[in-house]
Amino acid sequence: MDELILEKTEDGSDTLFIPEMDEHYHSTKGALTETNYIFIEKGLLASTQKEVKVLEIGFGTGLNAIQTLKAAQENNIKVAFHTLELYPLTWGKLESLSYAEQPYYKEIHLAPWENLVEITPEFTIHKHQFDFTTLPTKDIGSAFNVIYFDAFAPEKQPNMWTQQLFNHLFGLLSDGGILTTYCAKGVIRRMLQEAGFKVERLPGPPNGKREILRATKF
Ligand SMILES: C[S@@+](CC[C@H](N)C(=O)[O-])C[C@H]1O[C@@H](n2cnc3c(N)ncnc32)[C@H](O)[C@@H]1O
Repeated sequence: MDELILEKTEDGSDTLFIPEMDEHYHSTKGALTETNYIFIEKGLLASTQKEVKVLEIGFGTGLNAIQTLKAAQENNIKVAFHTLELYPLTWGKLESLSYAEQPYYKEIHLAPWENLVEITPEFTIHKHQFDFTTLPTKDIGSAFNVIYFDAFAPEKQPNMWTQQLFNHLFGLLSDGGILTTYCAKGVIRRMLQEAGFKVERLPGPPNGKREILRATKF
């Protein structure tokens, strides 16, 4: 992932393109729109908790993280944000992104890995650097209220979208916990159901994908 190209998406926010994988970090229909709709509105804010423990699969540019911090401030909730990433991006690759100048974005990136860091009174972050496919052998805590499942597409990284991993994520959620993802493929929906989730197909983001998935543990 050495070569990354900054591209503007259709809502005016930026993403990164990886030529080697032919894959983007976000939807080309709108990076910010995707984050705000799929992960914030349908995930974080669908939780009824006032203190929400979030687990993100794929920290990437930190766009989901910064929008979660903002949503916590605006909605008077507290968020303990845990995120997994195998290939952390350097600040040099991020500083030109359209969202990089927002308050706290750089602090989130400079927060040391493997530490719990308080960024604001409403938002703590714990960044974990390891291979998600080894998650069943790790201890990153449990009783998460919301999981943002934001891996690269199943066609690009099928090993991130397996039955074993969805079974494990089901076990990490609290009762009533929610997993959201941009991917609405039938094969992924069936794996989530097999893991024990009740799965809804929701309309996709404005001007974006046709449908998304929200899986809930009852
Ligand atoms: C779609 S991007 C995530 C976008 C991110 N949520 C954001 O807000 O910018 C997928 C991320 O998964 C990471 N990734 C790829 N393989 C991984 C693995 N085996 N374990 C953990 N993270 C991985 C990639 O480096 C990339 O940052």
